Amino acid sequence: MARRRGAGWRMPALGLMTLAACKAEQSALHPASQDARDVATLFWVMTAGGAVIWLIMMGIVVYAVLGRRRPVSERFADRFILTGGVIFPTVVLAALLVFGLRLLPGAWHPGAPDLRIHVTGEQFWWRVVYEGPDGARVETANQVRLPKGQEVEFHLSAQDVIHSFWIPPLGGKLDMIPGRTNILRLTADRTGTFRGICAEFCGMSHALMAFEAVVEEPDAFAAWLAAEAAPARGDATAFTRAGCGACHGVRGLVEEGAVGPDLTHLARRTTLAAGTLPMTRAALAAWLANPAAIKPDARMPAYGDLPEAEREAILDFLMGLK
Ligand code: CUA
Repeated sequence: MARRRGAGWRMPALGLMTLAACKAEQSALHPASQDARDVATLFWVMTAGGAVIWLIMMGIVVYAVLGRRRPVSERFADRFILTGGVIFPTVVLAALLVFGLRLLPGAWHPGAPDLRIHVTGEQFWWRVVYEGPDGARVETANQVRLPKGQEVEFHLSAQDVIHSFWIPPLGGKLDMIPGRTNILRLTADRTGTFRGICAEFCGMSHALMAFEAVVEEPDAFAAWLAAEAAPARGDATAFTRAGCGACHGVRGLVEEGAVGPDLTHLARRTTLAAGTLPMTRAALAAWLANPAAIKPDARMPAYGDLPEAEREAILDFLMGLK
């Protein structure tokens, strides 16, 4: 990434961002589920098929340019056109089509899922709500966790414009459309931290709309969800005084805000601003001071004008939300 001097917070922030991005896997060709493996297989077979056709075409071009020129019979020309122009493409494309169609039934998942997670695309961030078997809902943001080997049903929607939910190593992408719920089932078969992204252009900071997908053993996941459901602890005085509670909820302390991301256990997440910054005090301070410099068109207002003591108190509070 190119670096310029004197560009304020933006350049260091972008530098940190690439560091944050390096830790999580984002390749569809390094699958961590059967669905993603099918997509990767389809990609490699189609690529190999395309490469063979390309090599044959290049061979014909080389022969046409460099080969000895001699007249051919009309019968040969007819057969050549019939074979190369009709039979060959029909057979090859039909074979690839049948191969692709045979993968489709694998994408169909009957039966009830093990877990439901509702994810809503917002103006450059992700609202995430876990639905327990008893109907209990646990809200968080910008990170999804999945228990390994269990089927998770994502209920995908959007608040404003069309976004698209995609965790490349775990499966295909699916649009998030305002006013409707699309359903995507994923079953991860290895633990790890993967990077999910928005795959539909949704505005100025579309490319800065990412999230972390953490796959862990079912026991670790259950422990994490139980801790996530617990209320937050801390002194929210400065946070409330600055008006942050009008947009952000912190369960157990600040209940009114639901416009922005839930911050209940913010400090337990590993990234800030939807996968844009690492979860550090310095990055959080920069975000609070001037979000627009890091993420253009984000709805979060700037708090750079707050007295320093107030800002530090807010940072203390937020960094303590473990
Ligand atoms: Cu949300 Cu692109």
